[in-house]
Amino acid sequence: MGEYVDYSASVPVRRLADGTPIPAIGIGTFGSDKYSPEQIAEAVYGAVKSGYRLIDCASVYQDEDRIGEVLHRLMEEGVVRREELFVTSKVWNDQHREVEKACRKSLADLRLDAIDLYFVHWPFPNYHAPHCDGDSRNPDSRPFSVEEFMDTWRQCEALVDAGLAKHIAMSNMTIPKLEAVLPLCRIQPAAIEMELHPSFQQRELFDYVVSRGIQPIGFCPIGSPSRPERDRTAEDVADVELPSIRRAAQAHQDHPAVTCLKWAVQNGQIPIPFSVKQPQYVANLKASFEDPLTEEEMAEIAADDRGCRLVKGQVFLWPGATDWEALWDPDGVIV
Ligand SMILES: NC(=O)c1ccc[n+]([C@@H]2O[C@H](COP(=O)([O-])OP(=O)(O)OC[C@H]3O[C@@H](n4cnc5c(N)ncnc54)[C@H](OP(=O)(O)O)[C@@H]3O)[C@@H](O)[C@H]2O)c1
Repeated sequence: MGEYVDYSASVPVRRLADGTPIPAIGIGTFGSDKYSPEQIAEAVYGAVKSGYRLIDCASVYQDEDRIGEVLHRLMEEGVVRREELFVTSKVWNDQHREVEKACRKSLADLRLDAIDLYFVHWPFPNYHAPHCDGDSRNPDSRPFSVEEFMDTWRQCEALVDAGLAKHIAMSNMTIPKLEAVLPLCRIQPAAIEMELHPSFQQRELFDYVVSRGIQPIGFCPIGSPSRPERDRTAEDVADVELPSIRRAAQAHQDHPAVTCLKWAVQNGQIPIPFSVKQPQYVANLKASFEDPLTEEEMAEIAADDRGCRLVKGQVFLWPGATDWEALWDPDGVIV
């Protein structure tokens, strides 16, 4: 492991609707069934030493306890203070009826008193086991229900009341689902986590979210080249091979992965790229403040959208539903 240079002061800061600062880039912690919790935690250690302050966690990633050890170590060593960190976590689908218990478990694992941003990871209570394959289905799965979702959201609001979560958020939503639930929320989501990369720009949902003062957080910002088998199909487009990305990468002498992140930061979402490799995660952080893309390059990338969703979510389909598109309300109404 090389020496660390601290770039924290160079990373741009965004503001949530209530004015809370949040870094313009974070590090992801899902190992794609390929990297161990130890490797991921070690990367979080190096990432924070390099200047990352936003860490995107989830109980289903099965590494929060290791990350908690590392956060504790970083604070003990005086590398960072708690108030400088912005840590997220997410309630998994099998815990929608016991959100406080799930949040308390994540807090205990992460060794924190409160989480900065707590997500409903998926809007369905449909469970599938970690490491399952793409054909796996749960017979108890069912379609989205406004009532069930709002029951979960009320529990998230109670986390804010109890001081366990500073902000709450949603993930993997669609415009029809947001239209149905946002008017019912006592506390609005501070952020929406959504798949966002050059070949999948979700312009309509992105604009909808931004117009409501909600911060988009972009997952799979590099097109998740190491994603699990269940999330791969023959039609998928590799972002790092898009012509607009390759051209801009060459012009700036960057790896195409870095170009994807420059596009993300300049487009306005907060990307949360994953890497356990120091040269990669340092290059990714620097993408947020070094040698930005030109307006022409941004426009070329905007025109290169392929509508290529990678995390299709088919394992969450309910009996009778065969097409993963059903999870994403393709006709503008909740399926
Ligand atoms: N809310 C949700 O439902 C949801 C869903 C998916 C992901 N997420 C979050 O989003 C995070 C990021 O998504 P992701 O991990 O799927 O995909 P990603 O960040 O798009 O891709 C990560 C992979 O890109 C490669 N990479 C990273 N930096 C690079 C660089 N500078 N140069 C070359 N290659 C580079 C690495 O591949 P190698 O390993 O081959 O080096 C790494 O494993 C996750 O970790 C997780 O926190 C959330």
